[in-house]
Amino acid sequence: MQIVKTSEALSQALAKQTAIVFVPTMGNLHAGHIQLVELAKTKNAYVVVSIFVNPLQFGANEDLSKYPRTLEADLAKLEGAGADIVFTPSEQEIYPDFDASTNNTHQSFSINLPSIANELCGAVRPGHFSGVATVVLKLFNLVFFNGAQTKIAIFGKKDFQQLFIIRAMVKQLNLPIEIIASETKREDDGLAMSSRNGYLTPAQKLEAPRLYSTLGLLVDAVKQGNTDFATLEAQTTQFLTQLGWIVDYISIRSSQTLLPATQSDSKLVVLGAARQGTTRLIDNIEFSLKS
Ligand code: PAF
Repeated sequence: MQIVKTSEALSQALAKQTAIVFVPTMGNLHAGHIQLVELAKTKNAYVVVSIFVNPLQFGANEDLSKYPRTLEADLAKLEGAGADIVFTPSEQEIYPDFDASTNNTHQSFSINLPSIANELCGAVRPGHFSGVATVVLKLFNLVFFNGAQTKIAIFGKKDFQQLFIIRAMVKQLNLPIEIIASETKREDDGLAMSSRNGYLTPAQKLEAPRLYSTLGLLVDAVKQGNTDFATLEAQTTQFLTQLGWIVDYISIRSSQTLLPATQSDSKLVVLGAARQGTTRLIDNIEFSLKS
């Protein structure tokens, strides 16, 4: 496995590759990330993984400085999973005008995102998806610039809204890249794997799976014919709040448009974001109604 830090070294390493499959990450890798790499390995292509904690997608009061950085352990896991090359750029490599003393990217060009980027997680984390889309586009440029014929990128479904926005970006900006989604990897108790789970205290870790189980109850209610979505969302929010969660949102949406679900939608997703103490967890369940 090769490790490269600069765009130039990446360019040289990929020059002759005709099929590339790319897994972007922010490191602190867990079994969910390794599942993405394993999926990449099935694509008969050169497997590129990036590790880059992207300052542009963190808000001023978020966890950029304490975000776990575990490069040595990450590289060992990627070697074990069979990645071909790992790109670990510096902030300056991705943001040429980056100011390390203030963590300011000075990124003044940005992608105009659809309004859905300001809902759900985007409502609580203003600018987050603009930061994600910007870095993903930059990484796509750097990884796929060599004109490989097969260009695939893999993202996890846990970040459902992120996946939705990246798919829309690829479609609307005519990027010749296939986006593949990987199922959410869960702990035995149902908790979606996330780098942020490491922040949970033992007591919070015991409570954390309730987000997923509660979304499951919501799915059951809708499948049983309850289409009073607003009431279901409010009741679920109240239920979690009474148990000590700080709920950012619980929402039933069309999985096709990510707009609030209507009676005529049959492909749905329930999404939730809620905090245990200061740790913010997200999860979702996609499902279909029989017509
Ligand atoms: O999902 C993530 O880890 C990040 O948002 C991504 C896609 C690597 C962009 O920084």
